[in-house]
Order: sequence, then structure tokens, then C-alpha cells
Amino acid sequence: MRMRILKAAASLALAAGLITPALAEEVVKIGLILPMTGPSASTGRQVSAGAKLYMAEHGDTVAGKKIELILKDDTGTADVTKRLAQELVVRDKVNVLAGFGLTPLALAAAPVATQAKVPEVVMAAATSIITEKSPFIVRSSFTLPQVTKGIAQWAGKNEIKRASTLVTDYGPGIDAEKTFVEVFGAGGGEVVSTARVPLQNPDFGPFLQKVKDEKPDAVFVFVPSGFGGVFMKQFRDRGLADAGVKLIVTGDVTDDDLLPAMGEAAVGVTSSHHYSAAHPSEANKAFVAAFEKANDGMRPNFMAVGGYDGMRLIYEALKKTDGDTNGVKLVDAMKGMSFESVRGPVTIDPETRDIVQNVYIRKVEAVDGKLYNVEFDVLEAVPDPVKAAAKKG
Ligand code: PHB
Repeated sequence: MRMRILKAAASLALAAGLITPALAEEVVKIGLILPMTGPSASTGRQVSAGAKLYMAEHGDTVAGKKIELILKDDTGTADVTKRLAQELVVRDKVNVLAGFGLTPLALAAAPVATQAKVPEVVMAAATSIITEKSPFIVRSSFTLPQVTKGIAQWAGKNEIKRASTLVTDYGPGIDAEKTFVEVFGAGGGEVVSTARVPLQNPDFGPFLQKVKDEKPDAVFVFVPSGFGGVFMKQFRDRGLADAGVKLIVTGDVTDDDLLPAMGEAAVGVTSSHHYSAAHPSEANKAFVAAFEKANDGMRPNFMAVGGYDGMRLIYEALKKTDGDTNGVKLVDAMKGMSFESVRGPVTIDPETRDIVQNVYIRKVEAVDGKLYNVEFDVLEAVPDPVKAAAKKG
């Protein structure tokens, strides 16, 4: 009897809107901030499609809570990212911030995450330092030093003695350049020249002309996802390949999203990266097929996988906390998490909150008439080398 009265009182209170806070807690809100327009729109498209596919496959209820994804376009501008992060935290009361298509955008949100004690799941941006900017940052993408190490070692062992570097002039490019110079140098290689091009409206022409005159065995290149097509066109037009200069890159340049449109110029380009749409596992074949089906044939690139696995981290963390959305508990739950991703095995390093993963060496080849990054070698379980070296002291 007493129970019944209590229940009746509770439903009355509910109807009167007196206990909405309890109800509101039944929803877990994820604020997904991405460049959906502007020069990095391909990153936004890929990450958001990856996150949405994960939800479509795994349902929108976790540990009894409904997951609500709130997608915001920051246009690739850091001021906008920061304002959106603040609004999402204060007004929408999101439990998790996620996305972040470029390094400056991930950095802009870091103080907001720290102050609000809300996890910031970085699904795309890849400068090593990012995770050090807030104890609430966990990364599902990669770092540039992590992937650059692979191609720098490969070059030294494959008859490349003299190399030039060409990178985009901001965080990830500088990380890539430093790592290449260090690792290629340690293997006995000679770095002939280093060049940096602006992120906005890059003109690679003058740099490529200089490289052509220097005649190194290879040029190592990093440009962020979305810019590889422009670069490849200029590389071809300047005739570097004909001059005998090999092109070696991180997988950001031979991005799976743009690769089919790059044509002949991309064939034979060697790269290292953590994900290829051609990764030959059953799980990846199913992922690529489902992604293409859900997105009008768009091929997933590494950004899509960052979004997909980032959602997985959030889902699994909620399961571990039994639906508790406390930010410290969620981040703690993500630390040390290991699973088989469509890219291969991954672990969230409990100390750095970066992702430890395989880095594959690949070559662009036509498979059934379409260009892919075909993997032919692997460095297993690679941590972010910058933080690994700092730890060693
Ligand atoms: C970054 O800004 O951190 C970034 C963006 C795109 C990439 C890699 C790094 O492909």
C-alpha cells in the first residue's frame, strides 16, 4: 500500500515536472564539434559518418541511457570551436565533447573540458602535444610522430639516401618533419632540405621546383586530410616523378576519401599510416561495406575510423561506469581500454591517453580498377614516440 502511494506520488511529481533532473539524466549527450564546411569539410564528413555508423550498428541506448549526438559545425575556426564547446557544456549540458578536426580546434576546447570536467574525445587531430593540454582528453585518432616513424625507417632501408621534406606549417606538420629528420637521420640518411607551406591556400609549386633542382632520392610529405588532391596534382604537373624523385608520405596525403580521384600520379606512392580501407580483415571489409552503403558510396578514410572508434570508447566507458556520466569516471574507464578495431588491435595508453596501434607500410596500387593503399609491412603496437622518449628521459 505504502509503495503504491509512493509510486503514485512519484508519477504526479513527474507529471508536474518536479523531477525532470532525474529524467534528464537518462540521456547522455555527446557534443560532436567538427569542420562540416570549409577546407577541412571532408574530415567533418568522415568523422561524423563514422560516429553515426557506430550508433546505427550498436543502438542508441547504453547502460540504460539514451545517447544523443549533437553535431555542430565549427567551420575549422578555433574561436568558433571554443564558443561551441562552451555553449554545449553550459546550455546543452553535454556529458562528452568529441570530434576536433584540426589541432588548433582540439587545443581551443581543452580549457573548456578541464574546467567543466567533461571528457574531450579527440577523433581526428593528431599533434603529439594535444593530450597533454587537459587530463580530460582521450584520443582515438593517432599522432604524426607515431605514423611518420614508419615511413622514415622504411626509407632508410630502401635505397633512399638523400631526402627532402615538405610539410604543412602547423602542429602536425612540424611533428612530422621533426620525426622524419630524426628517424631518417638515425638510420644514416641525409636530409637535403626542409620546407613548410601555409595551411591556408597552400601553393606547393615553388617548393616542388626547389626539390626538383636539388634532386634528392625522395621527398617526404605531410599535408592534412583533404589537401592531398591539390598536392598530388602539383607534384604531377611539376614533373618530379619523371625527374626521379620518389614520393613518400604519411597516409594523410593518400587519404582514402580522395585517393580514387588522384589518378595515375598516386600509383606507387609509399606511405605509412594506421588505417587503410584495404586493410585485409573481415571486420574491416564489413565496416567499409556498411560505411559505403550508409554514405552514398563514400569510402571511409582514417578520419571515419577515428569517429567510429571514438564512439566505441564512449559506449564502452558508459558500460563500465554503469551509466555514470561523471567525467573523471568516464576518462578513467577509457584508460587502458583495448579492443580489435577495424584498423587492427588498439589500446588507450593509461598514462598518456593516446592510442597505441599498428602502423602499416603501404603502396598505392589499383585493386579491381580502383586505387587503394595496399599494406605490405607493419610496425606493431606503436605508442606516440615523443611521449615514449620523454618517459625514458
Ligand atoms: C591536425 O590538424 O591535427 C590534423 C588534421 C588532419 C590530418 C592530420 C592532422 O590528416
